[in-house]
Amino acid sequence: MGSAGSATPGVQTSPSKMADTVPDVHPLIRSRWSPRSFSSREVSAKDLRTILEAARWAASSYNEQPWRFLVATKSDPAAYQKLLNILVEFNQQWARTAPVLMLTVAKRTLTNNGAPNHHALHDAGAALANLMLQATALGMYAHGMAGYDHERAREELGIPDDYEVGAAVAIGYLDSPDNPVISRLSPRHGRSGIRASCE
Ligand SMILES: Cc1cc2nc3c(=O)[nH]c(=O)nc-3n(C[C@H](O)[C@H](O)[C@H](O)COP(=O)(O)O)c2cc1C
Repeated sequence: MGSAGSATPGVQTSPSKMADTVPDVHPLIRSRWSPRSFSSREVSAKDLRTILEAARWAASSYNEQPWRFLVATKSDPAAYQKLLNILVEFNQQWARTAPVLMLTVAKRTLTNNGAPNHHALHDAGAALANLMLQATALGMYAHGMAGYDHERAREELGIPDDYEVGAAVAIGYLDSPDNPVISRLSPRHGRSGIRASCE
C-alpha cells in the first residue's frame, strides 16, 4: 500500500491530490477527496465495521447520536441495486462500481423527551466526516451524494417519518490511476472560511 505525499500509514492520495492547506493540517485531512472512479475491489467486513465505528464516535448534541447508516454491499445484489436505483443518473454512472453504497439518515427527535432535534442532520454530517477520514486512513475513499431521489428513498427503503434523509455515499478503493476519469480531475478549490471571518 502506497503512502505517497504523506507520513500517514495507509493514506494513498498522490501528492497532486493533497489539499493545498496551511502547514500543519493533518495529512489525513489533506488526503481525503471524492473520486468518481472506484475499483471493484471489495471492502472487507472488518474495514466496513471500522469506518462505521469511527462514525459512531462523533460528537452530537445532547449525545443523541441521531445518525443511522443504511448499508448495501455488492454481496447483497438486491439491496445494492435498491440503493443504486435511488441515485440520479449522473451519480449512478460512476457510483455503480463502488463496492459499498450507504445512505445516512438522522432521527429528528430527541429520545429522552421527544422534542425536535434541530441538530440531527448536522450531527449525522459530523459522523459522516469521521467515516470519511477513517476510510482515508484505511486507503479507501468515500464520496458523498446529494443527487438522489428523496421521496423514492423514503418509500423504497422504508424510512420512517421520524428520520430525516441525509446523504448517499459511495465507498471503496480508487480505480487504476490510468483511468481517464481520474486523470481529468480538476485541482482542489478550498473556500477559506477562516480568512473571511477573521480579517
Ligand atoms: C452532502 C454532499 C453531497 C454531495 N453530492 C454530490 C453528488 O450528488 N454528486 C457528486 O458527484 N458529488 C457530490 N458531492 C461531492 C462534492 O462535490 C465534493 O465533496 C466537493 O466538490 C469537494 O471535493 P472533495 O470532496 O474531493 O474535496 C457531495 C458531497 C457532499 C458532502
